[in-house]
Amino acid sequence: MKTLSTALLAALLAGTCAAIPAARAQEQTPQLAPATASPERIILNLTADTAHEMAVTWRTAPGLAGIVEYAVATPGPDFVQAPMRLEAKSEDATIATEEDPEFHAAYHSAVLKGLVPDTVYAYRVGDGTRWSEWFQFRTAAQEARPFRFLYLGDMQNQVLSQASRTLRMGFRTAGDVAFTIHAGDLINHHNSDREWGEWFAAGGFLYAQTPQMPTPGNHEYGKDGAARAGSSVTGQWRHQFTLPENGPTGVPEATETHWYTDYQGLRLISIDSPQLDRNAQARAQTIAWLAQLLKDNPNRWTVIFLHFPLFSSDPDRDNPKVRSALKPLIDRYKVDLVLQGHDHGYARGAVGPQGPAADDAGATYVVSVAGPKMYPVGKLDWARKTAERTQAYQIIDVAPEELRYRAYSANGALLDEVALRKP
Ligand SMILES: [Fe+2]
Repeated sequence: MKTLSTALLAALLAGTCAAIPAARAQEQTPQLAPATASPERIILNLTADTAHEMAVTWRTAPGLAGIVEYAVATPGPDFVQAPMRLEAKSEDATIATEEDPEFHAAYHSAVLKGLVPDTVYAYRVGDGTRWSEWFQFRTAAQEARPFRFLYLGDMQNQVLSQASRTLRMGFRTAGDVAFTIHAGDLINHHNSDREWGEWFAAGGFLYAQTPQMPTPGNHEYGKDGAARAGSSVTGQWRHQFTLPENGPTGVPEATETHWYTDYQGLRLISIDSPQLDRNAQARAQTIAWLAQLLKDNPNRWTVIFLHFPLFSSDPDRDNPKVRSALKPLIDRYKVDLVLQGHDHGYARGAVGPQGPAADDAGATYVVSVAGPKMYPVGKLDWARKTAERTQAYQIIDVAPEELRYRAYSANGALLDEVALRKP
């Protein structure tokens, strides 16, 4: 048995012990539970038509049907009288997870279509007998209109124990957000169902009422040969999310990892940066796809988000292949914001075609981390603001003439702020 520290012993004897050091070594993540008969891990995703559609995905024990009931929400309980009904795509899947080489669950996904823009809907999911509670979401307006979204860097480690507070404080501060983006490494071990369970527990019902939009990081891919042979994200990714399937043609491994959507005057693009970094052929196709998206863009604002940063918060970490693939397009088409992860620190600055620039003379690049794993942050020529050992969440307010970016540390203090204007 370890001896008590002198300070702790003195405090105990004096009866003034306010805090006992946490036994971190004994910390345990929640036990892995089998999928249940009741719907669980319910999550919304945006589709490519944000004004008229919404995707919902959940899982249950195998062998159960998947049904969505939905209706325009009313002030009182009347909406439950005659909801619309949609049968989900249900798949009894066997996934090789870290904990169980033959993990069985039924994954259900449905895209609600023909919705009215800028309208609050109520919905529930189930098998016809066992139902979730009714959740509510709002469809996007068809035209450019002010809204806000949340951006989180890597949650990755101690996802439920210590990363959840960042996400939850983000929701508290931001209030009514249109969606949340996750810049990769949502979990640490790509196929650990226990860790994915932590990720879903961290967001709980928030994921069922606000669309979550992830891009994969290196930790969503396996490191070993077998898992990596297919160059594909873990089995959980495509089962758990229903993301737009509008990535580059000819890169099937990047289905639901490269994608884009438009939301009230903003074009949002997810770049699967591990895929981009690894595969030269896929890189060429992705560049062509992105160039087209940026060229034919009717939106005033453009945000690209990806895991590997083009500009790092640690001088010893660099992603030259990702930078050389993307930066010429970002410069040419004047992308406004590039939101990134991977480096476990905080940095924000603008970089133009010639290098570090004033805020309005180049794209604004951000590196941020939501979870507790911390790397050193170096002296950076490109960044105007840096922070070390800081878990952060970001709120971005988008309006036709101004995009206002704010970063907050996990305890709710304003960390950084910049406004971009397009009169
Ligand atoms: Fe990473």
